[in-house]
Amino acid sequence: MLQRIVKPLMIAVLLLFAQLTYATEGMWLPQLLSGLNEKEMKGMGMKITASDIYNINKGSLKDAIVSFGGFCTAEVISSQGLILTNHHCGYESIQKHSSLQNNFLEKGFWAKTATEELPNPGLFVTFIVRIDDVTKAALQDVKPGMSERERQSAIDKRLHEIRQNARRESWQETMIKPFYEGNQYFLFVTETFNDVRLVGTPPSAIGKFGSDTDNWVWPRHTGDFSMFRIYAGKDGRPAPYSLDNVPLSPKYFLPVSLKGVKQNDFTMVLGFPGRTNEYLPSEAVKLTVEALGPAKVGMRDAALEVLDGYMRKDEQIKIQYAAKYANTANAWKKWKGEMLGVKQTHGIDKKEQYEATYRELLNTANPELKVQYSGVLDSLNEMYRRIRPYAQTRDYYSELVRNVELFTAGDRLISFLGEVRDKGEGQYETLRQQFLESMQPFYKNYNAQVDHDVSVRLLEIYAKGVPKQYAGAEYAQICAESNNDSRTLADKVYAASALTSPEKLKAFVQQPYNAVVAQMWKDPGTRLIMAMRKGFVDNVSKPVNDLQNNINNLQRTYMQAQMDVMAGKKRFYPDANSTLRVTYGKVDGYNPRDAVHYDFYTYLDGVMEKYVPGDYEFDVPAKLIELYKNKDYGRYGVNGKMPVCFIASNHTTGGNSGSPALDANGHLIGLNFDRTWEGTMSDINYDPSICRNIMVDIRYVLFIVDKYAGCTRLVDEMKLVK
Ligand code: ARG
Ligand code: ASP
Repeated sequence: MLQRIVKPLMIAVLLLFAQLTYATEGMWLPQLLSGLNEKEMKGMGMKITASDIYNINKGSLKDAIVSFGGFCTAEVISSQGLILTNHHCGYESIQKHSSLQNNFLEKGFWAKTATEELPNPGLFVTFIVRIDDVTKAALQDVKPGMSERERQSAIDKRLHEIRQNARRESWQETMIKPFYEGNQYFLFVTETFNDVRLVGTPPSAIGKFGSDTDNWVWPRHTGDFSMFRIYAGKDGRPAPYSLDNVPLSPKYFLPVSLKGVKQNDFTMVLGFPGRTNEYLPSEAVKLTVEALGPAKVGMRDAALEVLDGYMRKDEQIKIQYAAKYANTANAWKKWKGEMLGVKQTHGIDKKEQYEATYRELLNTANPELKVQYSGVLDSLNEMYRRIRPYAQTRDYYSELVRNVELFTAGDRLISFLGEVRDKGEGQYETLRQQFLESMQPFYKNYNAQVDHDVSVRLLEIYAKGVPKQYAGAEYAQICAESNNDSRTLADKVYAASALTSPEKLKAFVQQPYNAVVAQMWKDPGTRLIMAMRKGFVDNVSKPVNDLQNNINNLQRTYMQAQMDVMAGKKRFYPDANSTLRVTYGKVDGYNPRDAVHYDFYTYLDGVMEKYVPGDYEFDVPAKLIELYKNKDYGRYGVNGKMPVCFIASNHTTGGNSGSPALDANGHLIGLNFDRTWEGTMSDINYDPSICRNIMVDIRYVLFIVDKYAGCTRLVDEMKLVK
């Protein structure tokens, strides 16, 4: 049926592309902006040039952007290495400095002088010095017909060589990453600083206001920011933590604008987006939203329900599980939004239409392309159909091991024993010590009763969801011994397993290596995890890996096919892969549903509307209430109101948290931290009509630092544009 309507459809879809790409889809490589992107950006209002964004000969915007710990983004906002990121990005560091007496999460923290700034061992920031296209050199040994493994090893050999020969300073590093599913390779010369100190953070009642209820939701009222400072050796180069280190004097830092934004204003976000999958075929999208999403969400629904029940009635458990809960809930909620969003925007239909257009274009393409790409899309879709039951089992399994902490611990025990086997029993003593030490933080936040209840629920879902032939005979045997009742099974496991406490675990591994290995099939906890793992390894890992290899190969070919077949008709940006990207859009509201319109700005009034005294998500600090009552906003308010958050159509994803939002002049106007509920499917199906990123207005950040915390020295460091 699709075939008959292909012609008019094709024109419609191509028009759609034109619109989509003119709007705001895309995470672009900063060194490749001049040309089409620059023209488009200027058309949308940008006043600066591509070379103001990326330039290797002078300080440019990219020199103010860092990867923060490899999981978030931060930006330099003063000549003294001050950086801004999200509260949720700094969360772990803030938590580590907190104690019951000095709870910075609860009260906030502000270093009054440089000497009070707090070091964070393990935390690092990375600057991008230069980006080079190394595709040709990387792929020179790749021959048609190579297996995935042969291809990868041919490439790896070249990558090693390219990195060795790359021009760089002695204190710099190099990294090479594949783009467009491995059709292109880029080299990054980087500079990493390991002395990063905590400078300031608001209390969670501001930095995490709205918590999990408001997470992924607009309208939003969160002051999700924290500040750190990069320290360098006296020579300005990276140096390990030392009291002698000095604040970094950066190549470039962002001026901060107090002007705010209006509807349709140009905005741009620079940062390190983690992972997107925009070029999947329709079967992969179906797999994601029909099989994998529901499996993972179902597991987490149950786990979160149990945790929530305990956290609400027990303060100690709340402290132990708060971070784990937030972490589990964040992806869970996003997947839910994603499934809903794909459905509401007819994401699968759109993919199928796109595929019809692709096929039509391939049909009329030159004979060479036709031969080269014939059947690729069909095979790829077929592979995704085949991988479905295995992939779903893999997700059930990994969610089980992740959410039942006893299994997480068991998994780590197995890895430790594997390490001893590989390195030799002579290492047993040392490795055992390391293992037990590494488990200490785990048990500090572990409650066996909570975990038991989670396991009852998840074991039941696992038993129902995973086909018998994949779960394996040993697992079936264990279930049979408990009459296939998950509660009976869990009761047995938690009553007797050595994994339930650090003391028992210590006693367990105190035995000689061989005795421990033998015990693994006897302890009811380790036996269960060994059995499930065996089922997974024997029946799922191999087929899933084989199919995945096949998919990787076909996906790469399909990516190139799309780029060749649609050359000149559609612009392709590479999927996110934790490398520096530029995305741009406009400040604007959206209409999520019939008769519903969302405005693009929120104000402090909205914080007060949501205020629930004493609530753990919606409490408001007394000082903030007072500032609100007195409308004491200093130079940061507008017309008697204090702006808090705003949204725009920048295409962002996880990892973009902490990214700067810049105006047409490249001045800092906001801090990215989230996306809106209806648009969380943007990782697989970006839709400009409803996809919006959420930012804290920079004036709210300054207001909190200056008026709320009185840490004016920080504002004085910045270059304010009025
Ligand atoms: N949803 C945002 C992002 O994916 C913010 C997460 C942190 N906030 C939270 N309540 N868990 O990471
Ligand atoms: N909140 C995300 C982050 O932490 C950003 C997003 O997914 O939009 O990176």
